[in-house]
Amino acid sequence: MSRRYFIAGNWKMNKTPSQAAALAEALVKNIGGVTKVDVAVCPTFTSLDVVGKIVKNSNIKLGAQNMHFEASGAYTGEIAADMLLELGCEYVILGHSERRQYFAETDETVNKKTCAAINAGLKPIVCVGETLAQREEGVTMKVIETQVKGALEGVCDKGIKSVVIAYEPVWAIGTGKTATPAMAEEVHAFIRKTLADKYGEEIAEGVQILYGGSMKPENAPELLAQKDIDGGLIGGAALKAESFTDLVQAALNA
Ligand code: 13P
Repeated sequence: MSRRYFIAGNWKMNKTPSQAAALAEALVKNIGGVTKVDVAVCPTFTSLDVVGKIVKNSNIKLGAQNMHFEASGAYTGEIAADMLLELGCEYVILGHSERRQYFAETDETVNKKTCAAINAGLKPIVCVGETLAQREEGVTMKVIETQVKGALEGVCDKGIKSVVIAYEPVWAIGTGKTATPAMAEEVHAFIRKTLADKYGEEIAEGVQILYGGSMKPENAPELLAQKDIDGGLIGGAALKAESFTDLVQAALNA
């Protein structure tokens, strides 16, 4: 398998710039030299500058948690792709379920952002996932297919090569409930098939598909052992240097 494991930390709305700097410094010390696994941290906008400077000379990459699809203009409170690029961002998380749920993001806005990010030279980490009600209704795959196809509308063969998909079942985020490895793998394999139908097997095989939702050092080995799980988008366990380091180690051992 040519895919590399990828462990990304989504720090969400946590840490002031000085707290973020302290965490970044500890991570550079612990895992800054890791080359066999892709590693990224995604702090808040206000900490991107300071964290970017700290991780700059390490192998840890920088990502943002959101961006606007327009390049500039009268969009009070928003951030554009080139602002992220100038701070050293390589990745941007798009369409996280918290953004869909609390900030009215739709498949359409996620699609516009995905295209804008690719065009600007950022690698989007596109999040998809079903709610508990949708899983119980038995519509998980339909929801995932709609979100994946929606986000990637108009994304060409070249563009998809810079996209990372994160499967985050909404009911598993921050709840301590993890999808079983088999449940997660079923959806990951389905996402890869959806990609293969659109882009062909070879391209689909190259796309990193991350799992997110209460992933921690204890459950990571089993999840990472699944064929189509290529890493994790980590929330809570990314906020402490020790647990994030252990997750990167789990990927190195996988
Ligand atoms: P937790 O790891 O805290 O469940 O969060 C997952 C997540 O939403 C990452 O984007």
